[in-house]
This record gives sequence, C-alpha cells and structure tokens, in this order.
Amino acid sequence: MQSLIKNIGCTNLLSEMKKVLITGASGFIGSFMVEEALKRNYEVYAGIRIGSSTIYLADPRIKFIELNFADVEILRLQLSEFPYFDYVIHSAGLTKGFNKKDYFTSNYQYTKNFIDVLIDQKRVPEKFIYMSSLAAFGPGDPILLNAVKLSDTPKPVTSYGKSKLKSENYLTSLLNFPYLIIRPTAVYGPREKELLTIFKLINSNLELLVGFKKQQLTFVYVSDLVEAVFQAMESNLTNRGYFVSDGHVYDGKMLGNIIRKHLEKRTIRIQIPTILVRLIAVVTEATKYITRKQPMLNLEKIKELEASNWNCDIQPLRDDLDFKPAYDLERGIQETIAWYKKARWLK
Ligand SMILES: NC(=O)c1ccc[n+]([C@@H]2O[C@H](COP(=O)([O-])OP(=O)(O)OC[C@H]3O[C@@H](n4cnc5c(N)ncnc54)[C@H](OP(=O)(O)O)[C@@H]3O)[C@@H](O)[C@H]2O)c1
Repeated sequence: MQSLIKNIGCTNLLSEMKKVLITGASGFIGSFMVEEALKRNYEVYAGIRIGSSTIYLADPRIKFIELNFADVEILRLQLSEFPYFDYVIHSAGLTKGFNKKDYFTSNYQYTKNFIDVLIDQKRVPEKFIYMSSLAAFGPGDPILLNAVKLSDTPKPVTSYGKSKLKSENYLTSLLNFPYLIIRPTAVYGPREKELLTIFKLINSNLELLVGFKKQQLTFVYVSDLVEAVFQAMESNLTNRGYFVSDGHVYDGKMLGNIIRKHLEKRTIRIQIPTILVRLIAVVTEATKYITRKQPMLNLEKIKELEASNWNCDIQPLRDDLDFKPAYDLERGIQETIAWYKKARWLK
C-alpha cells in the first residue's frame, strides 16, 4: 500500500513536471541545456539524430527522441509518439558546413520543417527558444566600434549568419507562435572543441594572431548562456530577441593573454597578415574534397576572424531579466582549462 501511494505520488509529480524538448542535445551547448533542465526539475526530452553522441547525456532521467528534420513525414511520425512539450529549445544547428548550401539546409530549412510540423500537429509550445547567433546580425561598425544593437539592421557576413537570420525571419513572420531568439556571441567552456585549438596552440608555446587591425571581441561562458536561456524561457517575455555576452569587451590579444597566464606558458606570438591567412584558408579549404570535412580554417571562418567588432549590446537582457553573468573571461578560462586538463584534452 505504502509503495502504491508512493508510486501514485511519483506519477502525479511526473505529470506536473513541465516537459522541455532540447534539440541538438548531443552538442556542446545542448548538453548543458539538458543538465540545467534536469536541475530545474523539467521532464527532459533530448532531441538527437542517428549517430549523435550521448556521452554527456548519461542521466537516466533523460528521455531520448530521435528527430529527422530533413524529412517532414518522418519527423511528423517521430513527434507524434511523444507528449506535448511545454517548451522547446532548438539548439540543433550547423556551425561548420561543407558548403554554403549546407548552412541554409540545416539551419533554415530544417528549422522551418520543425516549426511547420509543430504548428501542423497543434503542438505549438508555450515558448520556442531559437538558438541563433550574433553572426545573424554580423559584426558591428569597424570604425565607430560601437556595440551591435537590437535596433540595428542585420548585416551577416557569413552563410552561417545568413542562414540563422533567415530562420529568425521565418519565426518573426509567424502569427501566434511564441518564440524567443537568443543570439550568443562566441560561447566557450568545458566540452567546447573550436576554441580548444587555441588552447592547444598556446599549450605548445605558439600564439597566432590574424591581421594587424584593432579588434573588439566578446565571449560568454556556457553556464551563463544556459542561465540566460532558462530565465528567458521561464519569463513572460515572448516574440523578441536578445544578444548574449558576458558584458565585457576584449581586445584581440586578451583571449591569448588569459589562456597563456593560466596555462603558465611562454609563447612565440606570430601575427599573420589577413591576406596570408586567406591564402592558407583557400588551400586548407581545398583539402575538404579529400577529407570530406570542412577544415577549421575556412573562408567563411576568415570573415569572422577578420571582423573588427563583435561587440553586442546586452542591456535589454539586463533590463528584462536582470541578467548578471557570473563569469568574465578570466574566470571562465580558468575553469575551462581545469576541465580540459581533467578530461585530458590538454596535457
Ligand atoms: N558555440 C558557439 O560559440 C555558438 C555561438 C552562437 C550560436 N551557437 C548556436 O548554438 C547551437 C549549438 O551550438 P554548439 O556550439 O553546441 O554546436 P555543436 O556542439 O556542433 O552542436 C550542434 C548540435 O546540433 C546538432 N545538429 C547539427 N546538424 C543537425 C541536423 N541536421 N539534424 C539534427 N541535429 C543536428 C548536432 O547533432 P550531432 O551531435 O548529431 O552532430 C549537435 O547536437 C547552434 O545552433 C549554434 O549555431 C553556438
């Protein structure tokens, strides 16, 4: 009898729990979203695809849902087997495409397919969080170096950014679809593999700087981004976008300086002219036809690397959600290095 009461209690508790579907759950940011959702007592559905790694999704409370955004009919069937999701965090996205078209297919068309099926199946969630990017607005003015603001006209410089903007425009064109668009700047922290390359180079006593222009960079530590997303999701706010950074602006050398300091390394600093980096990118990009993989240094990446101003205005996030990032770059890098070392990603 006792255990029956206990079970009924559990069942009631479960039915009261809000359900959140997190797509891209196997990715760097998605896996942290899943952890936070569990901490906040959501019933968590991790959206993955065939072949996705579940290494960071080991918690037995996680329910998995395989989603094929490419095929609307299959997607319909896949979703129909699951209950209504109160919230959806759409973090699945392509950050390194093989060619330009790939970005539009994965970031725009698949997002559109997903949204259309949700609408068609009358599964419109209380809120749909779209993980866009500062890249959707593009860099700010290279001379004035002022922060990119929500009121600015987006001017993405990469296919990645353009594909994110196209999805944003689709979302904003919808009627009766409660969304929030989150536009993080560069996100870093444990499990992150892109910036890891810079850590590795510095660990081998080498520091590479692109071009000679003054640069303004911004960053956000992954747990601060996750906090912002959940605050936004649980708020009454809908149908608007936010930039997310740690609120500081760093010059082009600061990232390297902080990494070097915490790795306790001396480095040879090589400043490479942009034209040479572009030439190298042409060569490395050509290798993709052999490796079938987009190299880290590619022509799209160069456009991001050579932009002078990645400053963005997070005042709206502060005003609306009292967003107070806990990590500046110094603290975040320290924790990231500690994690990389523990995971043996850095020696
Ligand atoms: N990291 C940043 O600095 C940053 C900054 C701004 C915005 N964002 C955005 O944040 C989101 C997450 O980025 P991340 O850094 O976590 O990247 P990530 O580690 O590469 O994760 C991407 C996730 O999306 C999934 N995905 C990619 N293409 C897919 C497809 N066609 N169908 C289904 N799932 C697909 C991946 O699944 P698999 O594991 O199966 O590949 C993975 O789970 C992305 O939308 C990205 O554009 C990232």
